[in-house]
Amino acid sequence: MIDAIGRPQSLLVLGGSSEIAQSIVAKMVPARCRTVILAGRVGPRLSAAADLARSAGAEVVETVAFDVTETANHVVFADDVFDRFGDIDVVLVAAGVLGDQSVDEHNPVAAAEVIATNFGGLASAMLAVTDRMRRQGHGRLVVLSSVAGQRARKANFIYGASKAGLDAFSQGLGDSLEGSGVRVMIVRPGFVVGRMTEGMDPAPFSTTPDAVADAVAHGIESGATVVYVPSVLRWVFAVMRHLPGWLWRRMPG
Ligand SMILES: NC(=O)c1ccc[n+]([C@@H]2O[C@H](COP(=O)([O-])OP(=O)(O)OC[C@H]3O[C@@H](n4cnc5c(N)ncnc54)[C@H](OP(=O)(O)O)[C@@H]3O)[C@@H](O)[C@H]2O)c1
Repeated sequence: MIDAIGRPQSLLVLGGSSEIAQSIVAKMVPARCRTVILAGRVGPRLSAAADLARSAGAEVVETVAFDVTETANHVVFADDVFDRFGDIDVVLVAAGVLGDQSVDEHNPVAAAEVIATNFGGLASAMLAVTDRMRRQGHGRLVVLSSVAGQRARKANFIYGASKAGLDAFSQGLGDSLEGSGVRVMIVRPGFVVGRMTEGMDPAPFSTTPDAVADAVAHGIESGATVVYVPSVLRWVFAVMRHLPGWLWRRMPG
């Protein structure tokens, strides 16, 4: 349960090995989050993330097998986690794949996999956990979306479209939860320097996993519904969304 000073004490991460998620865990654990459940594909990356959560001081750290694309298992997964660990204050939706647009736009199967992971699969998992959060009557779903979903770029439209779908879904889900005690916070980072973007030239207003973690912690505390990282991107994209098409198409890759 949220403690007396409003800080979450339990966290479930969908995509437990995510680099950004690990920064968020490292921020939340010292701020009194005692239970950390890392759901993801079983392997060394997930185990290493669990070790980090333990070394940050979490009292209970568990890994649970979870694959975003295995939608038929999501209800069983959510029931198992909530039955075993009880109330969960924050569910962080961190799984995602970037894909390689230059290859994927000629490979419909690969493109569909990016969309199935980032949008369809996560939509299924979010509905499964939301049902359990509704029943407990409180909690926060924190969704790592992206500014890439605010307007698709020609160089990145498969990922961008998948994030646009996830973002719209999260916004509608949040609205549908009004009065339930459960709230959704959408996080829209720009380019985050890290594993997912390794080898790529940082875009303007690029940020770091730590800065995303700070913004998430602050957003949870202040009750935000949408968080841009860095915050200036809110205004940058307010303009970008309305640029004429001929100008938008000239934006660098
Ligand atoms: N990095 C950026 O520039 C950036 C910017 C904006 C938004 N975001 C979003 O932030 C989130 C976290 O990104 P990150 O930078 O932390 O990247 P990351 O370190 O590559 O993390 C991606 C996570 O997704 C998991 N994943 C991928 N496919 C999965 C599947 N089928 N089932 C279960 N888990 C799966 C990965 O698990 P494995 O370890 O098993 O592969 C990993 O835990 C993503 O949604 C990303 O789109 C990132």
